[in-house]
Amino acid sequence: MASNISVSPPVHRLQPGEQLDRSAFSLKVPVVGLRIPAARTTDITRSSEFKRQLLKLPKVKTVLQENGDEEFRVILLDYSTQDAMPQDLVELAQTNNYDIVQHGIDLEYDYWTANEILRSSLPEDLLEDMPTAFTITGHLAHYNLRDEYLPYKHLIGQVTLDKNKALRTVVNKTDNIDTTFRFFKMETIAGESDTVVEVNESGCRFKFDFAKVYWNSRLGTEHERLVSLFSSGDLIADVFAGVGPFAIPAARKNCLVLANDLNPSSTEYLSRNSIDNKVEDRVRVTTMDGRAFIKHAVQEAIDHPFENILPLQSSSQRAKQARLKLPPPDPLPVQRTIKHFVMNLPATALEFLDAFRPAFRSATNQELYNTNGMPTIHCHCFTRELEKENAEVDILKRAEEALGMSIANPSFHYVRRVAPNKDMYCLSFVLPRTIMQ
Ligand SMILES: C[S@@+](CC[C@H](N)C(=O)[O-])C[C@H]1O[C@@H](n2cnc3c(N)ncnc32)[C@H](O)[C@@H]1O
Repeated sequence: MASNISVSPPVHRLQPGEQLDRSAFSLKVPVVGLRIPAARTTDITRSSEFKRQLLKLPKVKTVLQENGDEEFRVILLDYSTQDAMPQDLVELAQTNNYDIVQHGIDLEYDYWTANEILRSSLPEDLLEDMPTAFTITGHLAHYNLRDEYLPYKHLIGQVTLDKNKALRTVVNKTDNIDTTFRFFKMETIAGESDTVVEVNESGCRFKFDFAKVYWNSRLGTEHERLVSLFSSGDLIADVFAGVGPFAIPAARKNCLVLANDLNPSSTEYLSRNSIDNKVEDRVRVTTMDGRAFIKHAVQEAIDHPFENILPLQSSSQRAKQARLKLPPPDPLPVQRTIKHFVMNLPATALEFLDAFRPAFRSATNQELYNTNGMPTIHCHCFTRELEKENAEVDILKRAEEALGMSIANPSFHYVRRVAPNKDMYCLSFVLPRTIMQ
């Protein structure tokens, strides 16, 4: 139930660029209380007559001990003055011989929410569309501030930092997305200028420089979904691997992974993350264009397969092995054919499908694919068709055009809406065997 006493921080509108003065947000709020015998506090505060009359301001104690007085307590009521109290409450207090006392609650900067502080600090004409949404990646929050809020960026950053104790850095995106490497240019607006973050996803730990590589925490479910389709021992080729959110969890479930990205910062962190997650022997990292990588991966698997890779064991499996003096597990079977290609570059990945025909045609030992089966391609893409049926037609048409052949039994997974008129999907299909002809 809302309090009868409505409080908001003092209005202290800042000029552009002016520093936040936290002391300007102190407020003394008048409240009435009842002086009651200390021994009866619990009975009174729980009684039906008084319970619903207690002060309902969030985060404010309703029972006070004043001046070290052991004998009495003051319980705060949900009224500013005695005049505001209902007459029957005044009479109830008098009948019980409880003194009605006037009290003042001191609310400071820390009491108010970020929204309340910004509402009191920003110019009135900017209050309607006040920025409230930011995304958190590790210790860093990032905003995409509209131009009119830029003169107040440090205020917005500082309040965000103050009110979210796990944050150390607040940045604002200064430009559109980098067209090739898909990361954002950003400027620190509060806190440390440290854009190297650490996040947990799919049970793995990822470290990367958010100012230099692509990362999107909203893709966590999609990363987990695809990895759940892989089986232990599968050979995976991740064409646009970023810092490893598909590659590393796949390797942790005993897949063997060829992981590639054109951005050298991405592959630097991808290699580091492989080490940190103890899968460096089963993740092979390259830094090349996606088309070249598709060709490289097909031949690399044939010429230089992963060999003598032991399956990762849980700590209980290792303990059991040591206890029973069991021999180490057999190495994972050698795989010379790729089971899954992952292609998460939704803006253009469909166009890269043209690389499969030359890659498979020029591969030596193609017959391995006749024996082991053709790989499944998982290709992420955007579409402006917002009806699922139309989206599927649009995606399939573009995929078949690029691949240069028709696709049998495609499956379409809706990932998320990325803009009001743009959806992200993942198209999955088994590469037609005729691609090798
Ligand atoms: C949308 S991100 C996906 C990264 C990662 N797979 C994930 O899910 O977070 C696309 C990645 O493709 C990389 N990239 C862009 N163009 C590329 C190209 N021509 N060849 C290889 N990688 C490319 C970018 O650097 C970026 O890391």
